[in-house]
Amino acid sequence: MDVKGKAAVITGGASGIGRATAEMLAAKGASVVIADLVEAQGVETVKAIEASGGHAAFIKADVTDEDDSRRMLELAVDRFGGLDILYNNAGIAVGLPGYPRAEIKRWRRVLEIDLQAVILGCHFAASLMEPKGGVIINTASMAGLYPYKEDPVYGAAKAGVINFTYSLAPWAAKRNIRVNCVCPGVVDTPLVRRGIEAAKRAGQTAGIPAKILHPRQIAEAVLSLIEDDSLFGRALEVRPSGPRLIETPEAPGVRRKQP
Ligand SMILES: NC(=O)c1ccc[n+]([C@@H]2O[C@H](COP(=O)([O-])OP(=O)(O)OC[C@H]3O[C@@H](n4cnc5c(N)ncnc54)[C@H](O)[C@@H]3O)[C@@H](O)[C@H]2O)c1
Repeated sequence: MDVKGKAAVITGGASGIGRATAEMLAAKGASVVIADLVEAQGVETVKAIEASGGHAAFIKADVTDEDDSRRMLELAVDRFGGLDILYNNAGIAVGLPGYPRAEIKRWRRVLEIDLQAVILGCHFAASLMEPKGGVIINTASMAGLYPYKEDPVYGAAKAGVINFTYSLAPWAAKRNIRVNCVCPGVVDTPLVRRGIEAAKRAGQTAGIPAKILHPRQIAEAVLSLIEDDSLFGRALEVRPSGPRLIETPEAPGVRRKQP
């Protein structure tokens, strides 16, 4: 898909990876709805995009809320004439204290935002995209591909996103909707900086990686998943050494890519 002239919704678009992707898509000619809980940074991102000649709108939305999730997608239709791209990116980690010491409501919130809201977003996007098709990208993580002892609940949520992505892909492909996910390594964003500071305070510096990605590298990976029309239900891992498509398994007798 060529993003020029297309309408996109990016959740968690006020910060970090979401913001970098919003700015990149807008620079390439897409109109972008930024959906986020944090209004000030969301509005600031819209202003930055508009100052560069792009088109964007902000909506304050909690991706776990049914009405908010539907409204953020409908805004793309109302303001920009359709919904071509959904980037389900909003996410949080459990942080410290980690599971199982964390409060139950904290790790449940991680599952709600990182996994259930992705499923909810795809639910509403599917019916809006179905007549002419579209592209959905979900943010998973390398933490969903490999054991992640620092935050097992986060890892489980992200593994769920990867499986959901390739399990949904055949249904979506029949409706001309491509669903793929991106699995970043550690990226220099406020989420990670908060985690590193907390780990340092707790004296737990062993898991802090030496090489950290820039949000722009993830935005480039997301753009490549949007642009490559041959990708259905794939997971793109992004390490400092570069991106790599993961060989996700297919169930016996079930073809992920539709003819
Ligand atoms: N930074 C990393 O190292 C890294 C690595 C792998 C995956 N990820 C994933 O990338 C995504 C973006 O993370 P980031 O590092 O850019 O973090 P970030 O904290 O910079 O941005 C996340 C954004 O999501 C928003 N958000 C959180 N909960 C929300 C909700 N309920 N509704 C709407 N918006 C909400 C936040 O307000 C924030 O603007 C997340 O899904 C994260 O799990 C990050």
